[in-house]
Amino acid sequence: MSGLIEGYLGVTEEGKKSKMPAKLDYYQSATGLFLGLFMWGHMLFVSTILISKDFMYTVTKMFEGSFLFEQPKPIIVTIAVAFVFTIFIIHAMLALRKFPTTYKQYKVLKVHTVALNHDDTKLWFIQAFTGFAMFFLGSVHLYILMTNPDKIGPYASADRIVSDWMWPLYILLLLAVELHGSIGLYRLSVKWGWFDGKDAKATRVKLKKAKWVITAFFLILGFASLAAYIKIGIEHKANYGEKYQPTTSISQTYVYDYKGVLS
Ligand code: HEM
Repeated sequence: MSGLIEGYLGVTEEGKKSKMPAKLDYYQSATGLFLGLFMWGHMLFVSTILISKDFMYTVTKMFEGSFLFEQPKPIIVTIAVAFVFTIFIIHAMLALRKFPTTYKQYKVLKVHTVALNHDDTKLWFIQAFTGFAMFFLGSVHLYILMTNPDKIGPYASADRIVSDWMWPLYILLLLAVELHGSIGLYRLSVKWGWFDGKDAKATRVKLKKAKWVITAFFLILGFASLAAYIKIGIEHKANYGEKYQPTTSISQTYVYDYKGVLS
């Protein structure tokens, strides 16, 4: 606790300049980097529905340990979500330090933003706003998945999106996370100078372009996936709750003899 107070005041109990703000900043960057990269993998996983229901089903079962155990173990998903949820909460807690906490502070920030008219300051505002929205939107999604790990799949996910009314939340969450994530990764690259070349200004222009390309790519992929789940969810409405039966099973290996007979 004294560490947090030290971080807030910027001085140690002995009156020396505290290293705590730098440490907290580092943890915020590290948790943000983890979440940003995790989201790239996550969106690719969710978009497997665009290839086929069977493919999405196969990937889902892999996350339940199908390659290790005969019976799927949804508890693995619960543990993975709990881990991501913890990082998400730590990241949000660390970000709280940077939020304006009074209307006066907010006004000062706004006046500076207008006066500076700098793109990166505007990006900071978008990031703060989308981050705030994700406190609520992200927590709902993570809690539901953590407590329903066996209800992920082509039908279960589509039913959740349509019949359980998750689609409005996902539209907002998708917009928030894609803006927040790519701005965050851009700001990390600038802050820590990961891709710095000889001309820092030119690097920044390139990074900003890359940021928009990445945002557009994941938004298109995300909305296309959401549309696919919504279509399946509408078609499956009458059979809400029914589990998907794959047309080709990953746990079964079929052996054909030379006459083509299944044994
Ligand atoms: C281990 C943690 C996570 C797992 C297992 C997971 C899993 C899933 C699954 C299965 C879907 C498909 C819809 C559904 O079944 O309800 C989905 C959609 C989505 N998730 Fe996650 N998620 C995780 C973390 C996150 C986080 C941290 C965020 C952002 C804060 C997020 C944002 C979204 C969004 C925006 C969608 C809708 C995307 C679309 O349909 O295109 N997820 N997630």
